[in-house]
Amino acid sequence: MPGFIMSHRLAAILAVLALPLAFLTLTVQSRALIAGQKIVGPNVCAECHKDEAEAWKGTHHFKTFRDMPRSKEARQIAKKLSIKRIKAEQLCLGCHFTQEIVRNKPRVTAGISCESCHGAGRDWEKPHADFSGKKSKEQETKAEAAKRWKASEAHGMIRPQALYKLAKNCYGCHVVPNEKLVNIGGHAAGSPFELLSWSQGEVRHNLWYSKGKSNAAADAKRKRMMYVVGIAVEIETALRAIGVATKKKEYAIRMAHRADQARKKMAAIAKALENVPEARQIVKVSHSAGLKLNNNKALRAAADNIS
Ligand code: HEC
Ligand code: HEC
Ligand code: HEC
Ligand code: HEC
Repeated sequence: MPGFIMSHRLAAILAVLALPLAFLTLTVQSRALIAGQKIVGPNVCAECHKDEAEAWKGTHHFKTFRDMPRSKEARQIAKKLSIKRIKAEQLCLGCHFTQEIVRNKPRVTAGISCESCHGAGRDWEKPHADFSGKKSKEQETKAEAAKRWKASEAHGMIRPQALYKLAKNCYGCHVVPNEKLVNIGGHAAGSPFELLSWSQGEVRHNLWYSKGKSNAAADAKRKRMMYVVGIAVEIETALRAIGVATKKKEYAIRMAHRADQARKKMAAIAKALENVPEARQIVKVSHSAGLKLNNNKALRAAADNIS
C-alpha cells in the first residue's frame, strides 16, 4: 500500500462492504483523521511549485471540489446511499477531495491535489527541498542528495520515478473498486483509464526540471514504461476489486471485464517484449485465479504476486 491515502480508501471500501452505515461512519472517520494529519495542502506546495499549481488548476481534479457536489448526478448518488452532505461523507472524500486538519478538526480544503498522487507531505515536504542543509543544490554532494531523496521516500513521498506507486494511486481511484457505490449508488464503475494517455493530457505538469517550462511529454522510453506498468497495476487493482465483490451485478461484471481486457493487453505486451520475463509471468499469474465471486483468497494472492 503506498501510504495512507490507499489504506484509508481501502479501509473505507472494506468497511462499506462489511458494516452497517452508522458504525461505518465512526470507524472510517477516525481513519481519515489520521490521514488528514499528514496532509499539508496544495497551498504549501504552491509556495515553491507555482507553475505546477497553475497547471493543476486547469484539471478535473481541481474542479471536482466545487463542481461534483453541485451536480445532479452527485445528488442522485447521495440520495441512493442516504448521504446527507457529500463533503462530509468519508466515502466520497477518499476519491474526490483533500482533507486537512485545521485547528484540530478535519476540513475539506481541495479536490484531488498534489498529495493525492505524491503522498501526504507533512514528513517529507521540508526534507525533499532542503538540499541537505546546504545553501544550494550545487553545494550538496551526490551522496547527500541520494540520502535526501531516500529519506523523503521513506517518509512517504511518491516521486515521479516511482511509477508503480504513482500508478497504484491513479488506479485505486479510477477503477472505482467499491461495490456498494456502484451497485446501489449508481456511480460509474470505473473510468476508461490508461496510465500513459491519461497522464499526458490535462494532468501533465512537467514544469519543474524542464528549462523554459515547456511541459514536454514523457520521452519514448518512459512512455513505454508507463504503458506497461499501468496495465500491470490495472490487472492487480481489478483482481482485488473482484475479490471483494459479493453479487453478480454491474460491479462484479464490470470489474471482471476490466481484468480480462487488461490481461489480454499484457499478453500482447509479453509477445512484443520477448526478453521481459516479468510480462509473461504477470500474464500467467493473472490467469491463476478465476474471475468469479467467492474467490477472494486466490484473487488476492494473484494480485499480491503481480505487485
Ligand atoms: C520550499 C520549497 C518547496 C516546497 C514547499 C515544496 N517543494 Fe517540491 N521541490 C522543491 C525543490 C527545490 C525540488 C527539487 C529538488 C532537487 O532538484 O533536488 C522539488 C522537487 C519536487 C518533486 C520532484 C521530485 C523528484 O523526484 O525529482 C516533486 C514531485 C515535488 N517537489 C512535489 C512537492 C509537493 C507535492 C509539495 C507539497 C506537499 C512540495 N513539493 C513542496 C521545493 C519545494
Ligand atoms: C474509489 C474512488 C471513488 C469514490 C469512493 C467516489 N468516486 Fe465519484 N468518481 C470517481 C472517478 C474515478 C470518477 C470519474 C469517472 C469517469 O471517468 O467517468 C468519478 C466521477 C463522479 C461523478 C461524475 C463526475 C462529476 O464530477 O460530476 C460524480 C457525480 C461522482 N463521482 C460522485 C461521487 C459521490 C457522491 C461519491 C460518494 C458517495 C463518490 N463519487 C465516491 C471515483 C470515486
Ligand atoms: C493526478 C496525480 C497528480 C497530481 C494531482 C499532481 N501530480 Fe505531480 N506528477 C504526477 C505524475 C504522474 C508525474 C510524472 C509525470 C511524467 O513523468 O510525465 C508528476 C511530476 C511532478 C513533478 C516533476 C516535474 C518535472 O519537471 O519533471 C513535480 C515537481 C510535481 N509533480 C509536483 C506536483 C505539485 C506541486 C502538485 C500540486 C500542485 C502536483 N504535482 C499534482 C502526478 C500528479
Ligand atoms: C484520489 C483519487 C484520484 C487519484 C489518485 C487520481 N485521480 Fe484522476 N480523477 C479522479 C476523479 C474523482 C476524477 C473525476 C473528477 C470529476 O470530473 O469530478 C478524475 C479525473 C481525471 C481526469 C479527467 C478525465 C476526464 O473526464 O476528462 C484525468 C485525465 C485523470 N483523472 C488522470 C489521472 C491520472 C493520470 C492519475 C495518476 C497519475 C490520477 N488521475 C489519479 C480521481 C483520482
